[in-house]
Amino acid sequence: MGPRILVTGALGQIGTELVVALEAKHGRGSVIPTDVREAPNCRILDVMDAEGIISMVNDESVTDIYHLAALLSATGERNPELCWKINVEGLENIIAAAKANNCRIFAPSSIAVFGPDCPSIAPQVTPLNPSTVYGKTKVVCEQLVMTSEVDIRGLRYPGLISYKAPAGGGTTDYAVEIFHAALSDGHYTCFVREDTRLPMMYMDDAIRATLELMEVPTEKLGGARGGYNIAGCSFTVGELVASIERHLPEFTCTYEPDVRQKYADSWPNDIDDDVARMEWGWNPEFDLDGMVDAMFAGLQA
Ligand SMILES: NC(=O)c1ccc[n+]([C@@H]2O[C@H](COP(=O)([O-])OP(=O)(O)OC[C@H]3O[C@@H](n4cnc5c(N)ncnc54)[C@H](O)[C@@H]3O)[C@@H](O)[C@H]2O)c1
Repeated sequence: MGPRILVTGALGQIGTELVVALEAKHGRGSVIPTDVREAPNCRILDVMDAEGIISMVNDESVTDIYHLAALLSATGERNPELCWKINVEGLENIIAAAKANNCRIFAPSSIAVFGPDCPSIAPQVTPLNPSTVYGKTKVVCEQLVMTSEVDIRGLRYPGLISYKAPAGGGTTDYAVEIFHAALSDGHYTCFVREDTRLPMMYMDDAIRATLELMEVPTEKLGGARGGYNIAGCSFTVGELVASIERHLPEFTCTYEPDVRQKYADSWPNDIDDDVARMEWGWNPEFDLDGMVDAMFAGLQA
């Protein structure tokens, strides 16, 4: 018997691509995509419905849960109580169901766990004092991962860049929106300053990191298991614009920072991912120009 894989939040930016990758690896019938929203080939599952999760895990003999349902930073700061409920209580419900059925869990964390006191290149181990509610929920989730008796692993994803699904209400959404605006209007009005530098990653690298982490034998994983730092490429908006101009020389970008500038300013510029590299061989493939080329190839196909 192969794995039976439940994916929560499967219709989101990551789920859209992770489900396809999991089906390619384990077979289509092995994956059960779920979301609170309705869509073809996706079952309804609200992660606030503790009983519903337990029933589905039992009925489907689930062995692995990729728990992607969450509210992201920008949406979360507008609905802090809901953000806490979905992110923290949602994970608690998933852990309870996994415990009763001996499932493994992948539970992503975020660079939002870091706060203004973090060095500009974020080390794996550093005080975690985020200024956003979203970041606080991710710190608590990492602690839940480390204190539960279930086999749970997490990655601190940087801002993820992809073309197959829209970005889901995070502060780094500008790095996705800019491509769509460049192709449709030749212009983008960016909600953070030109000199804003944040850690980012092309989705293919993020999906590969996820699959690779879940392959690692439990005994090889150390104290970073709750959220491994993984770096992709780090760049300012100005550098992103320059790379886009290689494809669209007439492209223009203006800057109108909003409240998301504050969240961006509270996060590190780059990530030190030595622990992930040493413990399970993490190595990103996409640099800034490689990511931009892949985005244009995907969007123009
Ligand atoms: N995308 C990024 O750049 C990024 C960066 C860091 C961390 N992450 C983390 O990765 C995970 C997935 O992120 P994403 O970008 O795919 O998010 P997304 O917002 O694109 O998707 C989240 C999905 O969860 C679903 N959802 C919301 N509430 C739900 C509920 N109560 N029950 C079930 N489903 C619900 C939504 O309908 C949506 O389809 C999250 O934990 C997020 O914090 C993402």
